[in-house]
Amino acid sequence: MSASRHIPRSLAKLRNGGLRTIQSHGFHNRTLNATASPVAWSRNSTRVPMSPLTPPSSRGFSTTIPNRHKHLDEPKPGEELWITFIDKDGEQHKLAVCEGDNLLDIAQSHDLEMEGACGGSCACSTCHVIVTDEDYYDKIPEPEDDENDMLDLAFGLTETSRLGCQVKMTKELDGVVVKLPTMTRNLQASDFS
Ligand code: FES
Repeated sequence: MSASRHIPRSLAKLRNGGLRTIQSHGFHNRTLNATASPVAWSRNSTRVPMSPLTPPSSRGFSTTIPNRHKHLDEPKPGEELWITFIDKDGEQHKLAVCEGDNLLDIAQSHDLEMEGACGGSCACSTCHVIVTDEDYYDKIPEPEDDENDMLDLAFGLTETSRLGCQVKMTKELDGVVVKLPTMTRNLQASDFS
């Protein structure tokens, strides 16, 4: 069959059957097409019956339990370590935490304003904290090169600055007080141009 004959025949199909099929699929036209049996065209141009459409069942809303970012376990009684965050407004938050928790996770699990843009992979400086007491600062293991590189980019760097995601709570740090800087620097591509 030539292409020129094939096209008009296809159009005829659309007018006679295809249109009806389209209408019967339309939710709003269901009553108008109640008597028309839904059909579709198979590859070999024969009509094949289709199962009648059923309206979508009504679906209710569902809710999921909010997943707090980096939720941490509560420390067992008697095993708590204490840390105090001083937020940007100067408010103090004294928290009981477990050994091994890092400061970014602690802050975020208590809804304190610490961004942690890179998710704790030492690739930003938005988890910058300032250890208020030098004695505590000296008890934290030395920063790796990666952390030092990121600290160089931190806004308001001080002598006792660290990245929260790289500092884990230890027994030696029990009672530490850290301050959240008033601003953090969220790097953008334009910062490197
Ligand atoms: S969250 Fe990015 S360096 Fe700590």
